Amino acid sequence: MIKIAPSLLSADFTRLYDEIRAIETAGADILHLDVMDGHFVPNLTFGLPIIEQISKISSIPLDVHFMVTNPGDYFSSMAEFGVEYVSFHQEAVVHIHRMISVLKENRIKAGIALNPGTPVQHLFPIVAELDFVLLMSVNPGFGGQNFLPLVYDKIRTLKEYTDKIDHKLEIQVDGGVSDINAKELVKLGANILVAGSYIFGSDDYAAKIRSLR
Ligand code: DX5
Ligand code: ZN
Repeated sequence: MIKIAPSLLSADFTRLYDEIRAIETAGADILHLDVMDGHFVPNLTFGLPIIEQISKISSIPLDVHFMVTNPGDYFSSMAEFGVEYVSFHQEAVVHIHRMISVLKENRIKAGIALNPGTPVQHLFPIVAELDFVLLMSVNPGFGGQNFLPLVYDKIRTLKEYTDKIDHKLEIQVDGGVSDINAKELVKLGANILVAGSYIFGSDDYAAKIRSLR
């Protein structure tokens, strides 16, 4: 079962309520929220007050992707807001195993995000603890960038490993996802496709979501 997760980053922020209603009606499975801190990535987006408000009006599960240096400071708020998926970057955090445990204690689906240049093998020692892995197919920080095909090999390697150890892992791909690469991504083992500009850049969200599916 493939899940389509539109990234709100490319929505019209002056009309967030309408955008969320529209994307749900268009058939989105999950709402992907990109939190950036201006340290880990050279951009700022939104934080707790906005996520809290969104959690009150969203009828689909929320997926918060932390591109920040101190994601653990916000995990208890994520639990409070009922966020279903949380990922943070392996490159930003020293004690990833501890952070994963905190997410699980809070009954949140725990994921680690990897930059394009980080090998998936870094996750092998702890992958059995993870609910999902987010593989970046652009350098994090901005929507609308070009897809990096290097992610194909990373999906393949990760999938082979989790099949070998018999661990059921969800694989998200994030960055430059479109109808051009979706099929190959899913064939290799991805099951959650995050897409921002491809969906929100159109005036027919439902058609874009259908084309990805
Ligand atoms: C980038 C974010 C992505 C971004 C994807 O740092 O993590 O979620 O919104 O946008 P597109 O699909 O336009 O590459
Ligand atoms: Zn993201």
